[in-house]
Amino acid sequence: MNIFGKALSGETNNDIYDSGENGSIDYGRLADFRPRKIDTYNSLDERSLNDIISSGLSSPRPPRQLETVKSSECLEALLSPSIRSSAGTPREYHAFEPHPMIADAWERLRLSMVYFRDRPVGTIAALDPTEDSLNYNQVFVRDFVPSALAFLMNGEPEIVKNFLLKTLRLQSIEKRIDCFTLGEGVMPASFKVLHDPVRKTDTMIADFGESAIGRVAPVDSGFWWIILLRAYTKSTGDHTLADMADCQRGMRLILTLCLADGFDTFPTLLCADGCCMVDRRMGIYGYPIEIQSLFFMALRCAKVLIKPDGDGKEFLERIDKRLHALSFHMREYFWLDHQQLNNIYRFKTEEYSHTAVNKFNVIPESIPDWIFDFLPLKGGFFIGNVSPARMDFRWFAIGNFMAILGSLATFDQASAIMDLLEARWPELVGDMPLKVTYPAMEGHEWRIITGCDPKNTRWSYHNAGSWPVILWMLTAACIKAGRPQIARRAIEQVETRLSADGWPEYYDGKLGRYVGKQARKFQTWSIAGYLVAKMMLEDPSHLGMIGLEEDRKIQKPSLTRSASWTA
Ligand code: GLC
Repeated sequence: MNIFGKALSGETNNDIYDSGENGSIDYGRLADFRPRKIDTYNSLDERSLNDIISSGLSSPRPPRQLETVKSSECLEALLSPSIRSSAGTPREYHAFEPHPMIADAWERLRLSMVYFRDRPVGTIAALDPTEDSLNYNQVFVRDFVPSALAFLMNGEPEIVKNFLLKTLRLQSIEKRIDCFTLGEGVMPASFKVLHDPVRKTDTMIADFGESAIGRVAPVDSGFWWIILLRAYTKSTGDHTLADMADCQRGMRLILTLCLADGFDTFPTLLCADGCCMVDRRMGIYGYPIEIQSLFFMALRCAKVLIKPDGDGKEFLERIDKRLHALSFHMREYFWLDHQQLNNIYRFKTEEYSHTAVNKFNVIPESIPDWIFDFLPLKGGFFIGNVSPARMDFRWFAIGNFMAILGSLATFDQASAIMDLLEARWPELVGDMPLKVTYPAMEGHEWRIITGCDPKNTRWSYHNAGSWPVILWMLTAACIKAGRPQIARRAIEQVETRLSADGWPEYYDGKLGRYVGKQARKFQTWSIAGYLVAKMMLEDPSHLGMIGLEEDRKIQKPSLTRSASWTA
């Protein structure tokens, strides 16, 4: 039964609509209508959803047969019978009526499916007939994640399983760029299926960075793969896939790449520019927040998936150690709020030895002017990058939302990120959600840092453009932080335009008001991201697939360093 089923089937207590703003739903009251037992809290708007994750999804969702789900049934599958029977309900119930965009989105998501030997193995990046496809006709690992979540939430795990197995096979290919061989564990950025109609054969070609613009390997792909394997396992209850020797080996190969001992002095992962969603030169080299959040989350997922047999025990120990060190480092050095900015502003420099407060020797003069006005008194976020004498104060949405989902952010930090979103709505959400990064680089800085990239001009594409796909991460993060109203507001904004504009890849402008200059239309992850956001808001227990409860064994930080500063 749909969690809102009772509310919609005529047994509704109308009060639940009245207490929210503009007739919206009071999540706290809705808890009363849940079929699952959640009696530990009163208001989802105020409290974390960890209780839901643990109580609601500990029993796996029963998988539905792929064969029984047809395109025409997709919309139906979204709705409980009680919703469908509410066709004549008065206007106050509009929050439950299916938005017409949902049907359009499902239809387009199905059109984007890619088949290998007649089996669905992924979704194509974009189906825009008007633009040169370049590599948008491939299945990207990161782009497939929201598609996979949408299929899992709709009870169609088959395509996700096929994708996980196919990409695992691709991982074992020898990866070479010129005379150099990449690490065994690297997962592809994307792959393509070639159909030979004459010989009636299908072949797969993968790109590990050797064809990609800039020749950068996707550090995020392996992490997304592990995160998706856990989502599949959690959603279906099928542990046999993760337990397979090949999957266990695949995970270990990925972990070997990032847990190897080396010259590192930090637990964060050192990366080249353009190694993740931001896949062009954008000054994210070093220790980009997106990778650190995904790394943390993938480690936590691997911790529950890796079997403690053979060398598994040793891997699990290394994972534990790294999680501990990584969470301390991130929470301590990447976290910025008003008080912390004030500390940095007053930093002394050239401090030597263990007693140094300004450990990375950040020169206060390097703090950009904009951050002083941008940072509200209430609110905070994980900044873009921290390395010797360098703090990149830019906001990166994916890194921050994934930090909430993996519980790298403490509950207080997650709440502070939500406060920041509310305080800086025009800057971070704008007209079309959501800014991938903020603010834009312009002029000399843009020339030096992007290498004069004409696609990444100010307020466009990766340089503070707005990406609708990030809506699913925002929604999941908001639900986890107990602030679903924030996600609802963003979704409402998306619904005013996204489908009418042809599901663009990104928007341009300070407020994200213009369809991106070179944006592809019918970009699959814009479509799937919307569906996932809607489904999660409708049934927040879906969050269990992609959200992790805080690990109480991981050390809690003090959110401020003011004490050590004065020491
Ligand atoms: C762009 C994005 C990248 C995405 C690709 C395919 O290059 O930056 O993250 O995977 O398009 O959609």
